[in-house]
Amino acid sequence: EKGGYPTFMDKEIAEQPTALADTLRGHFDGTAVILDEQRLGDDELRTIDKVFVVACGSAYHSGLVAKYAIEHWTRLPVEVELASEFRYRDPVLDRDTLVVAVSQSGETADTLEAVRHARRQGAKVLAVCNTNGSQIPRESDAVLYTHAGPEIGVASTKAFLAQVAANYLVGLALAQARGTKYSDEVAREFEALCAMSAAVEETLTLMEPVRELGRELANSRAVLFLGRHVGYPVALEGALKLKELAYMHAEGFAAGELKHGPIALIEQGLPVVVVTPSPKSQPVLHSKLLSNIREVQARGARTIVIAEEGDDTVAPFADTLIELPRVPSLLQPLVATVPLQVLAAEIARAKGFDIDKPRNLAKSVTVE
Ligand code: F6R
Repeated sequence: EKGGYPTFMDKEIAEQPTALADTLRGHFDGTAVILDEQRLGDDELRTIDKVFVVACGSAYHSGLVAKYAIEHWTRLPVEVELASEFRYRDPVLDRDTLVVAVSQSGETADTLEAVRHARRQGAKVLAVCNTNGSQIPRESDAVLYTHAGPEIGVASTKAFLAQVAANYLVGLALAQARGTKYSDEVAREFEALCAMSAAVEETLTLMEPVRELGRELANSRAVLFLGRHVGYPVALEGALKLKELAYMHAEGFAAGELKHGPIALIEQGLPVVVVTPSPKSQPVLHSKLLSNIREVQARGARTIVIAEEGDDTVAPFADTLIELPRVPSLLQPLVATVPLQVLAAEIARAKGFDIDKPRNLAKSVTVE
């Protein structure tokens, strides 16, 4: 049932182009974004004035990624919060607040309790979920299903990419309801999202250097991940994958914070993975990342640079260069996450660990 792949995780990484296409299919009818279940009126969507995304783990990272696009498209403030924190504070919620609860399983205890808390306060809840008929969508006002198919590997891969895509769809639906985007603009964004399936397919063909790198890094003690803007949550997701699968100390940082502390960690040979934005569409951020790469390399770090293909400026400072196809900036996480998944799986394999069932973890966390 692994379809010829050595592990479910390898199979699920390879299924990501399909997961994306299946998640997007049928959700735009030429004029409007369509949710799967909507027990909310259009007028209720129109008056939303604040959005929370609540989730745990990788699902939380999918919210952090989507925040940039949702705010850009809707001009609504978006807060992304861990469900376990959200439910135990007193968040400001009212009937014009939309809480987006993201969960692959639909059964995560903290996310479910966050949904219940939000509804008791009168907020509207939209579930982004991969499991039909699970508890979180049953208790929500609206549902958008990710169609990643069953995810067997404990570490989330294709469900994560599908969550990012679905969160983007939520952003487009809100933008349209609020009138911050006309349907022709929504159509263009939707097309760009759909094109990411082929971009991920292409990314998967570029993974040989990542596999080689995984074997080389198997004895490292720690790995740091740096990114900015949408690349920051990608760095967090890369670090989480490495912790779960390879039991290695890994941390993701916002690259702009480097000088505020983390740079003290840099020592000879420490692998530092840098998620670099496009030099063409994000020249300002790109040049800042480039200085970060040079700074850590000058202090002895082994630089692993994930960059757009044809980015000649970073190449001289990359001990290992991993290329990605050129895609729109806001959508880069959909391709940039892939090498980080492959890297974590490959290091775990080299160390002889059980990739599909990492120690101490459960696929669905139904207790706090
Ligand atoms: C990471 C991972 C977990 C889950 C988290 C939320 O690889 O799998 O961090 O993302 O437990 O699970 P769901 O999405 O089922 O609520």
